[in-house]
Amino acid sequence: MNDTKHSKRSSVSRRQLLHRALALPLTLSAWSSLFKPHQTEAQVSIQTSAVSSKTLVAYFTRSGNTRVIANQLQRDLKADLFQIEPATPYPADYEANVAEAQREKESGALRPLKNQVPQWNQYERIFLGFPIWGTTAPAIIRTFLTEHDTRDKVLIPFITHGKYGLGNSLSVVREHAKHAKLLKGYSEECDQERDTMESVDKWLKKLG
Ligand SMILES: Cc1cc2nc3c(=O)[nH]c(=O)nc-3n(C[C@H](O)[C@H](O)[C@H](O)COP(=O)(O)O)c2cc1C
Repeated sequence: MNDTKHSKRSSVSRRQLLHRALALPLTLSAWSSLFKPHQTEAQVSIQTSAVSSKTLVAYFTRSGNTRVIANQLQRDLKADLFQIEPATPYPADYEANVAEAQREKESGALRPLKNQVPQWNQYERIFLGFPIWGTTAPAIIRTFLTEHDTRDKVLIPFITHGKYGLGNSLSVVREHAKHAKLLKGYSEECDQERDTMESVDKWLKKLG
């Protein structure tokens, strides 16, 4: 009887031990899975949806206007989101950035990307967002289209500008994505940093 009790108790405690032993790696893996995706996102600038999406929203932004549209597309379409970033960041100073964009436009140089889109082949439809720089698409967009095969992908641009329109940006996209199915995109006039800077200058002058 005692033996049975003892063996029952020891069998329960063995089960508990086994359970704990199994739970430990599970707990560790639960913790690591909590952190891994975020580390990956930060490293490769991608935010993936719960289900594996066939739609990607890829965007470049300096001052955040284009990101507003990108975030809405991602939310509404349950798409994956990728921020296009250059390997070497553009200058934080506005005028220095304008000068650099102008140099890249004149030279036609491609600006290296920080990251490529992971699992690019999984996507069938790409929303591509960017601001107008010097009446065209920023050099980083030319690089993006050169380094990602858009053959047979549906490509839908969304573009923000600061009141001077789209310039030749759509033909730049067409030229660099010759085999994509290019759909009519979306564009919007947005606030310009330059206007804000001028208003703040006026305000500071008034303050003396
Ligand atoms: C370097 C640079 C060049 C720009 N050139 C133009 C331009 O040629 N035409 C225009 O309408 N807006 C121009 N803008 C304004 C931006 O296109 C506009 O503010 C855009 O919404 C910014 O988007 P973002 O906040 O996503 O960076 C320029 C802005 C920068 C920083």
